[in-house]
Amino acid sequence: MKSVIDIRDLSVGEIEELIGVASDIILHPGRYAHLCEGKKLATLFFEPSTRTRLSFEAAMYELGGQVLSVAGAASSSAAKGESVADTAKVISCYADIIAMRHPKEGAPLVAAMNASIPVINAGDGGHNHPTQTLADLLTIHREKGRFRDLTIGFCGDLKFGRTVHSLITAMERYEGVKFILISPEELKLPSYVKKPLKEKGIPYVQTTDLLSVMPELDILYMTRVQRERFFNEEDYLRLKDSYILTPEKLRTAKADLSILHPLPRVNEISVAIDEDPRACYFKQVLNGKYMRMALILKLLGLEKEVAYEH
Ligand code: NCD
Repeated sequence: MKSVIDIRDLSVGEIEELIGVASDIILHPGRYAHLCEGKKLATLFFEPSTRTRLSFEAAMYELGGQVLSVAGAASSSAAKGESVADTAKVISCYADIIAMRHPKEGAPLVAAMNASIPVINAGDGGHNHPTQTLADLLTIHREKGRFRDLTIGFCGDLKFGRTVHSLITAMERYEGVKFILISPEELKLPSYVKKPLKEKGIPYVQTTDLLSVMPELDILYMTRVQRERFFNEEDYLRLKDSYILTPEKLRTAKADLSILHPLPRVNEISVAIDEDPRACYFKQVLNGKYMRMALILKLLGLEKEVAYEH
């Protein structure tokens, strides 16, 4: 029984397999529509979420499974003081797999250590968000056809942006990838994410200036400044509009740039860019559902059911 807490819990080969399954689901959804019949996914979200929770739930329904949902800490026993470990043991009696989001870094890991069913980290504080990374990877795969030899710019809140941490951790495993880290001084990438880049000699550049690096980028990953992780509102207000992507700023960008954003967008990307063929953020949402379908199948040991029929 395997859980996915960190994107490194999946090897490069396993990610390739998931992309294969997700691509097959896109082509032949009917073949997958009943594979999870009789199985239940519990979504435990102790932090606000719209798309991630609904994406997991839609994924399970499209596989023919069912969903048990706890939508917020206020309505669950956590409000009575129950530990994450106990919650995980209890939910293991009701469901076959858990997707958990929690404001505390490490909470899904504690759940995985105590559950008798697979646990998927659906975002833990400012730490990791591996299933958003699966959505990002499928998007990059579909847009670029490769993971190697890409220059990727991450722009915005690189300190608290957990999707950034997980995607860098995933992409650093491919040859020829270069990272350009664009953020205000106060929101630079944490050293624990940078350390493996230094150790492996993977090229990265840190800058505060988006415009000067724009012509180099194959992928631009924009992020929201993570208001809920700030200690004071003043700092948030000062930093929130550090980068706003507008059509003028794209003037020097490559014609085949892919613009990604995990959403929700606040105002980091002008809506005028939504119609630009380089904007991929709404495709990313759909890709996230397909990758979550593939991941649920894998963790329940059902992914071979269809492959065997081929
Ligand atoms: C991200 C998250 O929750 O970290 N959203 C998501 O899962 N789609 C990004 C964010 O909240 O800014």
